This record gives sequence, structure tokens and C-alpha cells, in this order.
Amino acid sequence: MKQKLLDNLAQYGQEHLLRFWDRLDPRQQESLAAEIAKIDFALVHRLYERQDEDHTRALADRAGPPPAVRMDATDNRFSHKAARERGQEALAAGEIAAVVVAGGQGTRLGFEQPKGMFPIGPLSRNSLLQILTEKVVATGKRHGVPVPMAVMTSPATHEPTQRFLAEHNHFGLSEDNVLVFCQGTMPAVDAQTGKVLLAAKDRIALSPDGHGGMLAAMARGGVLDSLVQRGIRTLFYFQVDNPLVQFGSAEFIGHHRLTDSELSTQVIAKQAPRERVGNVVEVNGRLHVIEYSDLPDDVAERRTADGSLAIWAGSIAVHLMDTAFLQRMAGQAEALPFHRAHKKVPYVAEDGRLVEPQEPNGLKFERFIFDLIPAARNAMVVEIDRRQGFAPLKNAPGAAEDTPEHVRAQMVAEHRRWLAAAGATVGGGVQVEISPLFALDIEETSQKIEPGTQVTQDTYFRIE
Ligand code: UD1
Repeated sequence: MKQKLLDNLAQYGQEHLLRFWDRLDPRQQESLAAEIAKIDFALVHRLYERQDEDHTRALADRAGPPPAVRMDATDNRFSHKAARERGQEALAAGEIAAVVVAGGQGTRLGFEQPKGMFPIGPLSRNSLLQILTEKVVATGKRHGVPVPMAVMTSPATHEPTQRFLAEHNHFGLSEDNVLVFCQGTMPAVDAQTGKVLLAAKDRIALSPDGHGGMLAAMARGGVLDSLVQRGIRTLFYFQVDNPLVQFGSAEFIGHHRLTDSELSTQVIAKQAPRERVGNVVEVNGRLHVIEYSDLPDDVAERRTADGSLAIWAGSIAVHLMDTAFLQRMAGQAEALPFHRAHKKVPYVAEDGRLVEPQEPNGLKFERFIFDLIPAARNAMVVEIDRRQGFAPLKNAPGAAEDTPEHVRAQMVAEHRRWLAAAGATVGGGVQVEISPLFALDIEETSQKIEPGTQVTQDTYFRIE
């Protein structure tokens, strides 16, 4: 077996992966051989060699603002009301499914378990996954049709996520409406040499292939076909880190349908040129997302005549994607490019020691789902108020932004606003949290809360 593996690896200069082979027991040898068999070394080689190509600068130079449904509604093609009605029809017809990406390693948060299990509820301490799934359940109840939910995991998050969902009876979704599928991986390579790194003597340094891995993983595992067979026409995509996501927004879905768009995305108006969100831009009539780390300073700083940011549309990673579009794109192997990230990747050195690098030493390869946007017909963006739909959990307590404290404060502020709009008075400093099963938005809160209600102590609103 060793010789056969070596012959294959030698073609790509990766023989070092068998450096410790003779010291491994048969079981370890088998698992290492299995990992090697799954790697497309020709692809890894190509990605490494392509190192210096960078199209982002050229793209950024030609970037302008995207066609958008703006909050001030000045130039919008369709009214809020028309959009909401069209979206409600699609929801009631059972054409919408949820897809949540939960394969990330959550390194910045410093939480040992998958991020979806983080107890984010300000008062309930319910997990991200519970809050998000309850939004899906409540949306199904509102429109009289259960909404299926696909959950993308990665090898590190798959088992615990599946177990967590099962232990909690899928938070009220029926089991056949929960489709958990695992994304693929890519090996990390040494940035200097292109050699694939070993995480252990019998294990390759593999990491998730980015949320763009969703396209291939959904097609491979049959999840996409299964959703299509159930009559699903559009996937409502969001990230597991955003408990404020306006899941099931009929207005967003309606704009998507009325524009005959294949991919629509929610954005916020950026507060600063270098805000750490993807930038949705238009280049030659096509929409693109330029990641914050790739946006050149001079482009980020560009202003329009009235002094506002030219590159204003910040991606919150909430997309509507038509299943027919995804099926078409899944058939194209190169539909999504790989991005390279220069990262610290622990590895086993030649002498067998495990090295924890202090500086980035490795390259990881990831696909981003938003790179599908330029290929979509009539792609467009819908602006929302960030306070109402975006509170991402990224960083550990104590960091400057996007920490558990920030997210909880944003949830409390939003729910206080719903109660105030319903005519309740919430005492200063009083914390409130509204379960998605109690109310999904201001309108539903108003149906449940009597005007004049006084909320004088911390309260978690839920159904008994
Ligand atoms: C991401 C977006 C950014 C957007 C921001 C909004 C990218 C590259 N950037 O930033 O444009 O403004 O969110 O919050 O996406 N995930 C997987 N598998 C993977 C990698 C990630 O499922 O292989 C999931 C994570 O679980 C998470 C989401 O994708 O739910 C985003 O990943 P993260 O690394 O947090 O992205 P950001 O760089 O914060």
C-alpha cells in the first residue's frame, strides 16, 4: 500500500505525508491512506501555484453601488405592501426552506462546542440553534405550512450538532423537516513550499472548505434534490451566528419573486468605510461581493456627491437562492473559485514535534457562497435596518465588538422596541427577550400585548 501511495504523492511532491508511516499502527495507516485518497492533489497544486493572481483590485476599481430596494423607498420598483403579499403567497405555497451554515470553527469566539450551541438568549440562555430553529417553526405556523430546515455542518461540528438537535427534539421541527448535511474539507499547505501539512503523524491538516462548500455538499448528499422534490423553489440562507436574522421575511421574499431574481441578498448601510462586512457592489451590470479584507482603502473611502459612501452596501450574509439556480450551478465544477487565507496552522515538523506557529505559516483554501452572485439572473439587494436584523456573534467576551454581551444587548434593544411599538411601557434598564414562538415581529407582538402593559422587571416572553 505504501508504495502505491508514494507513487501517487510523488507526482505532486507530497511524499512527506508518509514520513512517519513505518511508525504507525495498521489502523492509523489505514485512516491516513483514506484521507490521502480523498484529496485532489492536482487541485491543491493548482491553487497553490496560482498564488499571485489577484482580480480583486481590478474588480474594486470598477465597482459601483448595486441596484437595491432601499429603506427610504424612493426608487423602489415595488411597494412594501406588494412585496409582502407576494412573499406571503410563496410561504403559504410551501416554496421556501431554510438553510443555515454552521460548519465554521468559531475560533474567534473561543467556545469549545459548535457555535450553534452557544447560550445566547439574554434571559432564556437559549442556544443560537434553538432561537433560529424556533424562527423557522414559527414561520411555518404563521403560514400554515411547515418550513424544512437544512443545516450545514463540518466534520468538527457534525456529530455534536446532530446530537444536540436530536436531544432537543429539533426544537419543534419534525425530524423529516430537518436535513443535516456535512460540508467537505480542504488540506492546508505550507505557505512557503506548497507542501500539505500534517496535523498529526497519521492525520492531514484538513479544514472546512468554506460556506461555498454548501453547493457541492448539498448536491452530493441529495439534499438539494430532496428539497426540490418537496416543491421548494427558494432557500432562505443565513449564518448560525446571527440570532436577529429576519427569517421568513415576506417582504424580502416578495421583492425576490417580483424582480424575478435568482439570488437576492440583504444588506445594511455601512457605518464606516472599513466596516468588517462583505461589500455588495455592481461591476458591469453584475453583482459581486468584495470581502472587507480585500477592499482597497481608496475604494472603500470613495464618496458620492452628497458625501455618503459609494460602496455602501454591507453584506449580512442573508441570501435567497433559487433551487433551480443552485442545481444549474452545481453542475459546473468551477462555479465557485477558491480563496486563499494565510493562517496559523499547527503542524508536525520533520522531527515529529508538533509546532504551534506564532505567525501565519499556512494557506487554507475556502469557497464563499456569495461568489455565486455574479452568475445569478436579476440579482439584487434589499436594505434593512441593522438593529432589526443583524447581531453577529463572532468574538469572545471582552472584545471590542460582536461579543456575547453585544449580541444580547442588541436582542434586548430590539425586543424593547417591539414592546414599545405594541404600546407597552418597559422600565429603564429592564431586560426583555421575546421567544420567536411568542412573536416574530412587531405586528405579532402587538397582537399579543395589551397597550398600556407595564413591564417593570426582566421578562422572557414565551408561550406557556
Ligand atoms: C462573514 C462574511 C462577511 C459578512 C459577515 C456577516 C465571509 C467570507 N464573510 O464574515 O461578508 O459580512 O459574515 O456576519 O463569509 N461557515 C461554514 N463553513 C465554513 C466556513 C464558515 O459553515 O467552512 C459558516 C460559519 O459557521 C458561519 C458563517 O459561515 O455561520 C460565516 O463564517 P465566519 O468565518 O464567521 O465569517 P466572517 O469572516 O465573520
